[in-house]
Amino acid sequence: MRSLAVYLVALAFGSAVRAAPKDCAHKVKESVVPPRGWTKAASAPANHTIELRIGLPQPNFAELEHHLYEVSDPFHERYGAHLSKEEVESLIAPHPQSIQLVDEWLVSYGLVQEDLSRSPAQDWVKVKVPVSLAEKMLDTEYHVWTHEASGESLVRTTSYSLPEHLHEHIDLVQPTTLFSTFKRMRSTARFSRTTPAAPSPSAPPIKVPTASGGEVDASCNETITITCLKQLYNAVGFTPSSKNGNKIAATGYLGQFANFADFELFNEDQVPEAVNATFDVISINGGENDQDPDEAGDEADLDVQFAFGLTFPTPATFFTTGGSPPFIPDVLTPTDSNEPYTEWLDFILDDPNPPQTISTSYADDEQTVPVSFAQRVCNGFAQLGARGVSLTFSSGDGGVGDGDSDPATQECFSNDGRNVTRFIPLFPPSCPFVTAVGGTTHIPETAVFFSGGGFSNVFPRPAYQDIAVPEFLARLAPGKFEGLFNPNGRAIPDVSAQADLFKVFIGGEAFLIGGTSAASPTFAGIVSLLNGARISKGLSPLGFLNPLIYALGAIEPSAFNDITVGNNPGCGTEGFNATKGWDAITGFGTPNFGKLKEIVTTGFLTLDLDSTGISVSL
Ligand SMILES: *[C@@H]1O[C@H](CO)[C@@H](O)[C@H](O)[C@H]1NC(C)=O
Ligand SMILES: *[C@@H]1O[C@H](CO)[C@@H](O)[C@H](O)[C@H]1NC(C)=O
Ligand SMILES: *[C@@H]1O[C@H](CO)[C@@H](O)[C@H](O)[C@H]1NC(C)=O
Ligand SMILES: *[C@@H]1O[C@H](CO)[C@@H](O)[C@H](O)[C@H]1NC(C)=O
Ligand SMILES: *[C@@H]1O[C@H](CO)[C@@H](O)[C@H](O)[C@H]1NC(C)=O
Repeated sequence: MRSLAVYLVALAFGSAVRAAPKDCAHKVKESVVPPRGWTKAASAPANHTIELRIGLPQPNFAELEHHLYEVSDPFHERYGAHLSKEEVESLIAPHPQSIQLVDEWLVSYGLVQEDLSRSPAQDWVKVKVPVSLAEKMLDTEYHVWTHEASGESLVRTTSYSLPEHLHEHIDLVQPTTLFSTFKRMRSTARFSRTTPAAPSPSAPPIKVPTASGGEVDASCNETITITCLKQLYNAVGFTPSSKNGNKIAATGYLGQFANFADFELFNEDQVPEAVNATFDVISINGGENDQDPDEAGDEADLDVQFAFGLTFPTPATFFTTGGSPPFIPDVLTPTDSNEPYTEWLDFILDDPNPPQTISTSYADDEQTVPVSFAQRVCNGFAQLGARGVSLTFSSGDGGVGDGDSDPATQECFSNDGRNVTRFIPLFPPSCPFVTAVGGTTHIPETAVFFSGGGFSNVFPRPAYQDIAVPEFLARLAPGKFEGLFNPNGRAIPDVSAQADLFKVFIGGEAFLIGGTSAASPTFAGIVSLLNGARISKGLSPLGFLNPLIYALGAIEPSAFNDITVGNNPGCGTEGFNATKGWDAITGFGTPNFGKLKEIVTTGFLTLDLDSTGISVSL
C-alpha cells in the first residue's frame, strides 16, 4: 500500500515537472583509481548479468541524524525514545521527483516496474541487467579485474556517467567502482591449531580489583573461556531472561557457516547450562548454511560461540548473507557483488522487530570503499541505531596498518593517486554510527598489538568525541605521525575487549584463536546483557551506544577498565600507545558489566558544568 501511495504521489508530482530529455548528455558521475593489487584482465562478457543498485538521495537524512543523537544522548530527555520503522523510512525516503526521474530513465532502456526491486524506504532501486545494457546506461565499459593476492575476479569499471539532469537525483550506482577487499577480522597470525593445554589447577587466581569477586582464574591468562570473560568483566551470577523480548545476533559473510555440533561441543565444555541450546539461522540473498563439519567456519563458530555463550538463554540469530565473489562469467545470475552489507541492510531494515544487539567481525580497508558507498552504508547503520539497535564491529587486526610486517607487501599506500604512506583505518568501524571494538590480551589486561586503531579519512570527528579525542591527540609528541593520519577524522576504536587465545570448537576440535573478531562478539554479549537488564525493567534498549560510552568515559571511577599498556604497530611505525583515558588502540577500555548495569538501569546521568570543567554523575 505504502509503495503504491508513494508512486501515486510521484506521478502527481511528476506531471508538474518538465519531462526529462531522453537523449540528455551523459556526464561523469564518479571515477576512481583502482586500488593497488587489482589488474584489468579482459573485457566483461556482454551477456554477464549484474544487479545494478541505484542509490537515490535521502534529502532528510540530517533530520534523521538529529533524532538519532537526541534519542541516544543520555543527557537528553528523549533518551531511549527510539523511532519506529515507519518513522525512519519516511525520514529516509527520497524526493518523489527523484523516484520519478529515475523510473523514466529506466523505462527509456526498456526496464519496467516488474524488473525493479526497491528497499523499504524506496532509497535504493535494484535491477538485473546484462553488462551490455549497463554499459549503455552508464556510458562506460566494464572489465574483468583480478586481484593478485586473493585470485578473486570482479566485473568493474573505474568511471561511469549519468545523464546530467540525473546527477542530483542519484547518489551512486554500484557495482561500478567498488573494488573492496572485504575480509574477516581473524588475525591469521594468531590462529593456533594446538589444542589448549590443560591449565594447572593449583595456580592461585589472579587479583583483578574490578573483576567479579576481585579475582580471575589463573588459566585465563593462557586460555579465554566464557567463565574467564564473565569473571574479568564482572558479570558472574547475572542470568538474562529468555522471554522479555531481548535478542542477540551475529552476522556471517563469505561462506562462513556456524556449525550447530561445534556450538554444542563448546557449550558442553564452557556453558553447561546451555547444553542442547540452539540458535536461529536466517539466510539473506542466498546465504547458505552448510552443516558439514569440513565447512564449519572458524569466524562464524567463534562469533556464535562467544556472543551466544555469554548471553544464554537470550534468543540468538545467525545471519548468513550471500553475494560475495567469485565472479563466474558463464552464469547469468549476478555473483560478483563484493560488498554484501547492503544486502544485509535491506533485509534487517525491513525487519519490524530486529535483534537489539548485533555483532559483525568483517570489514574492508576504508580506502578501497568509494566514499559515496561508505556514506550510504553508514547511513543505513544510523537508521538501525535510531530504531534502538546496538551495532558492534571489530576494529581491525593490523594495528595502524594492514597487518603485514613486510614493507614490500604492505598496503600502507594511499589510493588517491598520490601513492604516499598512510595509516589504514577500516570501514565499517570508521562509520560514526557503529561501535568499534579493539582488542586486549592477558590478565592483567594490556592492549593487543594487532588491535586496529586510528582515524577515518572519510568521516569527520563526531561531536561525541570532541573532548576525549583531542585530549589524546594533545598527548602525542608534536608532529608525531604527521601526514600519516587525519587528526580531524572519526577516531577508532570506541571500546575494547579480550581478543586473543579464545578456546573455540571448529569442525569438532578445540582451537585457540584470536583477532578483534573475538572482541566484537564479546563486547556485544555484554551489551546484550545490559539490554536484557533494561528491558526486564521496562526500559528501552540502549540503541546507538557511542554518545553513552563517551559520557560514561568521563565518569570517575570509570565503568570501563582503562587499558594503559601496549601499542599497535603498523606501516613501519610503532603505532599509537594505550594511555590513560581514551586512546586509538583500546578506546575507553574493556567493560565492567556490574557497574554499567547499575548505571543503565538506575536512571539518567546529570551533567555538572562548573569552573573546573565538566563532571558527570549519576
Ligand atoms: C599473564 O601472561 C603475561 C604474558 O605471558 C605475563 O606477562 C603476565 O605476567 C601473566 N600474568 C600473571 C598474573 O601471571
Ligand atoms: C539434552 O538433551 C538430551 C537428549 O534429549 C537429554 O538427555 C539431556 O537431559 C538434555 N540436557 C539438558 C541440559 O537439557
Ligand atoms: C555468453 O556469451 C558467450 C560469447 O558469445 C557465449 O559463449 C556464452 O555461452 C554465453 N553465456 C550464456 C550463459 O549465455
Ligand atoms: C607506490 O609506491 C611504492 C613504494 O614507493 C612503489 O613500490 C609502488 O610501485 C608505487 N605504486 C604506484 C602505483 O605508483
Ligand atoms: C609511546 O610511548 C613511547 C615510550 O614512552 C614513546 O617513546 C613514544 O613516542 C610514544 N608514541 C606515541 C605515538 O606517542
